[in-house]
Amino acid sequence: MEFSITVLPGDGIGPEVVAEAVKVMDAVGRRFGHDFGTSFGRVGGNAIDEFGTPLPEETLAMCRKTDGILFGAVGGPKWDDPRAKTRPEDGILAIRKGLGLFANLRPVKVFPELINSSPIKPALLEGVDMIVVRELTGGLYFAKPKKRWETSRGRRGVDTLRYTEQEIARIVRVGFELARGRRKLLTSVDKANVLETGRLWREVAKEVAEDYPDVELEHILVDNAAMQIIRRPAHFDVIVAENTFGDILTDEASVLAGSMGMLPSASLAGLSSGKGGRRRRVVSLYEPIHGSAPDIAGQGIANPIGTILSVSMMLRLSLGLDEEADAVEKAVEGVLAEGYRTPDIASDGGNVVKTAEMGEVIAGRV
Ligand code: IPM
Ligand code: MG
Repeated sequence: MEFSITVLPGDGIGPEVVAEAVKVMDAVGRRFGHDFGTSFGRVGGNAIDEFGTPLPEETLAMCRKTDGILFGAVGGPKWDDPRAKTRPEDGILAIRKGLGLFANLRPVKVFPELINSSPIKPALLEGVDMIVVRELTGGLYFAKPKKRWETSRGRRGVDTLRYTEQEIARIVRVGFELARGRRKLLTSVDKANVLETGRLWREVAKEVAEDYPDVELEHILVDNAAMQIIRRPAHFDVIVAENTFGDILTDEASVLAGSMGMLPSASLAGLSSGKGGRRRRVVSLYEPIHGSAPDIAGQGIANPIGTILSVSMMLRLSLGLDEEADAVEKAVEGVLAEGYRTPDIASDGGNVVKTAEMGEVIAGRV
């Protein structure tokens, strides 16, 4: 089959990890007889430098007519001026909002080979397999007012935590649908003891639960969630959380997997059937959960696995190519079993390789 993929490498290690993911995608194409035509677009700090905006019109247009978007990372110290009118991060936020990608799926799986790469006790990591569903187009990231200003008594700043019941219901529903196909436990995260939005979140989650009698719903306060994710990670099946809580909890959860560099994500405008020709035409975006890591950019030592696993999510969820997605995951597993490691996951030794070699051995195994 023929597909068109929009590739947005971004800044920092973004281009380095994306290059390896594209190698793996091409290997999938060769093995299974698909043509993944790629178009590269500009986003983030490099787009600010060249076009004065982190998301040029042309890039957004490319994102609208494609079978899937593969995204690297944006940001860097060069664009960190707190007074700047626009930031690289605004580029990814505008894509998420512009395409209505409200559901961000972040699976957290612990590869047995990497159990010793995590600072968490091995016994606690056994059987860890959770997926965090992060609300992606609402809350503090987007709601207005959102500004800074000066008064006679000093500077002020405000961000707004606002959610509508519709926004909550649709993301909680995604959580239930996923849990239904898994271990049937949905953990809803909120701060209902303090925040009005938290109380609304909990109320709406309970209402949606009536449509899913086969799934158990539990509620957990976000501060407690942060502790339980480390204390008993294997307990969790599907976790659903608002935008900021989901952002924070997934960086934390990546420690279970051994490194931020291991985790992929999918940002969707809803759950479509995803099967072959019957798929609905909704564009989705796939990106590793890590950032642009300016401290290691340009050294060729970044871990491309989170981005490569994002390709696997794209194959499965946007292109309906389950067998191909399995092949990518098996290739990653195989290469880890053979001892290949990028520096971030090499605490127990192994064959330490650079970004490009990791991409090549995984592509070779596909
Ligand atoms: C993430 C990142 C982004 C976010 C940044 C780069 C805007 O941290 O995808 O988790 O906060 O959503
Ligand atoms: Mg984050």
